[in-house]
Amino acid sequence: MNEQMNEQDWSSKKYCILTYGCQMNVSDSEVLSGHLETMGYSPANSEEDADLLLINTCAVRQKAEEKVLSKLGRLRSLKKKNPAMLLVIWGCMVQQKDIAEQISSRYKFVDLIGGPHSLERFPQLLEKARTSSKTVIDINDEGEGERDHLHIKRGHGFKAWVPISHGCNNYCTYCIVPYVRGPERSRSPERIIHEVSELTKNGYKEITLLGQNVNSYGKDIKGGLDFADLLQRLDDMEGLARIRYMTSHPRDFSDKIIRMIEKSRNICEHFHLPVQSGSNKILKLMNRGYTREYYLELINKIKSRVGHCSITSDIIIGFPGEEEADFQDTLDLLQRVQFDAAYIFIYSPRKGTKATAMADQVDPEIKKERIKKLNKIQGKIGLGKNRQLLGTKQEILVEEKSKTNPEMLTGRTRTNKVVHFSAGENLLGQLVDVEIIEAKSWTLTGQYLP
Ligand code: SAH
Ligand code: SF4
Ligand code: F3S
Repeated sequence: MNEQMNEQDWSSKKYCILTYGCQMNVSDSEVLSGHLETMGYSPANSEEDADLLLINTCAVRQKAEEKVLSKLGRLRSLKKKNPAMLLVIWGCMVQQKDIAEQISSRYKFVDLIGGPHSLERFPQLLEKARTSSKTVIDINDEGEGERDHLHIKRGHGFKAWVPISHGCNNYCTYCIVPYVRGPERSRSPERIIHEVSELTKNGYKEITLLGQNVNSYGKDIKGGLDFADLLQRLDDMEGLARIRYMTSHPRDFSDKIIRMIEKSRNICEHFHLPVQSGSNKILKLMNRGYTREYYLELINKIKSRVGHCSITSDIIIGFPGEEEADFQDTLDLLQRVQFDAAYIFIYSPRKGTKATAMADQVDPEIKKERIKKLNKIQGKIGLGKNRQLLGTKQEILVEEKSKTNPEMLTGRTRTNKVVHFSAGENLLGQLVDVEIIEAKSWTLTGQYLP
C-alpha cells in the first residue's frame, strides 16, 4: 500500500529543462530528459509547475555565463515559494571548478551541480541530491563511457541529433570547449550506424551528426572508419532523406570528404565552415592551423564540385592583436567567399585559455564598431544570396507551426535556409515543395506547391 502510494507520488512529478549553448548541449538535454522519464518524471508545462528544474549551461562566452547567474538570482524566490523543488545546474559552465564552487557557496539552494562528463551518473546523483541537505557536486572528468544504452527523449519525431564524437583536441587559443568537454573521443561506428538505422526505421527523415570537429572523426580509433567512410555508410541507408553534420574544421575538411559529398544522395549541400578570421596573423595567434589562402582554395573546391550549395561561417571580432589591417582582411574574405550567412561574435576572454593572457586586448568600443560594420556587410551579402533563389522550387522539411497562426509553417531547405509559408493542412515532419516568393537576409517566404 505504502509502496503504491510512493509510486503514484513519484510518477506525478514534473520536470523542466532549460538549455543554453550548442547542439551538443541540446543533445545532452535529450539524454537527461530520457533519464528523468525513465525515473517516472513527466514534462512540466512551465518552470513554475516543475518539481525539478534543470539548467544546462554553456561557457563559450561570458554572456552565456552571465545569463545563468542572473537566472539563478531570479530563482531564489521560486525556490522559496516551492522549497521541495529540486534545482540542478548542469553542463559546461559548472565543469569549471571555480564556477561550481562559486555557485554552491552563493546559491546554497542549488541541489545538484554536474558537468557534461557526469551524464551517465545523473540518476544516482539526483537520488543523492534528493536526500542531502547540501549541494551535491560532481564535476569529475572521468568515467563517461559509451552513452548508447541510455534512453533518449528526442525533441522531435522526424529530425534527430546524433553525436559522433565528444570533446576536442584543437585548443584554439580563445576556446574553453577542450577544457570543459575533454579530449576528442569518437563513438564507435557500429553504434552510430545502429542508432541512425533505428531512427530511420522509426520514421526519422533527417539526422545531424554532432561533434566539435566532425572532420577528424575516427582518428582515435585504430583501423576504424574516417568521417568520409562514415558518411558513405550512412548515405547508403534506405529511408533517410537528409544527413547534416556539424561542426567542420576547415583544416580537416579533406578532398575525400568533398568527393564523398559530391556523389552522395542524402548529404545536404550545406557547408558550415567557421573561418574565425580573414587575417593570417590572427589565424596563427588563434592556432587554427590554416591560412586565408588555404581557406579560399577550400571554398573554391567546394563550390566547383557541389553545385547549388550554401556556405556559412563563424567569425570572431576583436581577438587580441586584431588591428585595422586584420579586420580589413576579414572584410575582404567575406566579400570573396560570399557566405550565405555568418555568425559573428565579439571575442570574449575565457579564463584558462591562452588568448586571455595575450597582449593587445582590443578596445571594447572598437570591437562594437567592427561587429556592426561586419554584420551590415554580411546582411547585404546574405540578402543577395537569398534573392538568387526567388522563383526557384525548393524541397523543404516542415519543422514548426507558428504559435500565433497555425496555418503558418516553417521549414528548411537542404541548404539549411529557413522558409516560412502557409498551407491549409498540417504538414509537420513532411518533405514538401515550395516556390520562393520573398527573400530577406536571414529568411525566405515560400508558396506551397501541393
Ligand atoms: N567546435 C565548433 C564550435 C565551437 S563554439 C567549432 O570549432 O566551430 C562556436 C563558435 O563560438 C566558434 O566557432 C567561435 O566562433 C565562437 N567562440 C568560441 N570561443 C569564443 C570566445 N572566447 N569568444 C567569442 N567567440 C567564441
Ligand atoms: Fe573550440 Fe577550436 Fe575545438 Fe571548435 S575546434 S571546439 S573552436 S577548440
Ligand atoms: Fe557551450 Fe559547451 Fe557547447 S561551452 S558551445 S555548450 S560545448
